[in-house]
Amino acid sequence: MNSFTVTVNGQPREVQGARPHTTLLNWLRDGGLTGCKEGCAEGECGACAVLVSRPDGRGGTRLESVNACLVMLPAMNGQEVITAEGIGSPGHLHPVQHEMAVRGGSQCGYCTPGFVVSMAAEYYRPERTSRPERKDGEHHAPNGFDIHALSGNLCRCTGYRPIQDAAHALGTPPEDDTLGTLRT
Ligand code: FES
Ligand code: FES
Repeated sequence: MNSFTVTVNGQPREVQGARPHTTLLNWLRDGGLTGCKEGCAEGECGACAVLVSRPDGRGGTRLESVNACLVMLPAMNGQEVITAEGIGSPGHLHPVQHEMAVRGGSQCGYCTPGFVVSMAAEYYRPERTSRPERKDGEHHAPNGFDIHALSGNLCRCTGYRPIQDAAHALGTPPEDDTLGTLRT
């Protein structure tokens, strides 16, 4: 496969001559998107998480959190990726980033982009707000957030309570949400 395109944060990026073992994580970082971090490089810490648009089984798409250290770049041919940089910016924080900031969900910050990505995937999960009540409600907050969505993300310094508080403070995505166009 000599060349193909991956859409990153809404912009098509041409890939030329990718080596089969180049990971999505290394390619993104080499391209300047250093928000995704390498922690373990073996799928156990979530520091490298990115959003990938996947079929939702109903003719639309949904955003899923994926560990970029485990994905080989050629497998992303034609796919759409959103990194932490594409979720929000310092002047326009995404609700997930805002809640993490105001509730003290970040200290050194190394894990934070990965948490933001995983939290955003759960934020946009359609069933979260349409059917928040669950019989196994012990893992679901009143806003429908399933805290298991963060079970692949490790933090070594903040402690998980402020991060959980941020997740449980999230509301419903507004209709004009720009990332929301990928949800339908
Ligand atoms: S660096 Fe990818 S899961 Fe840890
Ligand atoms: S804020 Fe330092 S590892 Fe999470």
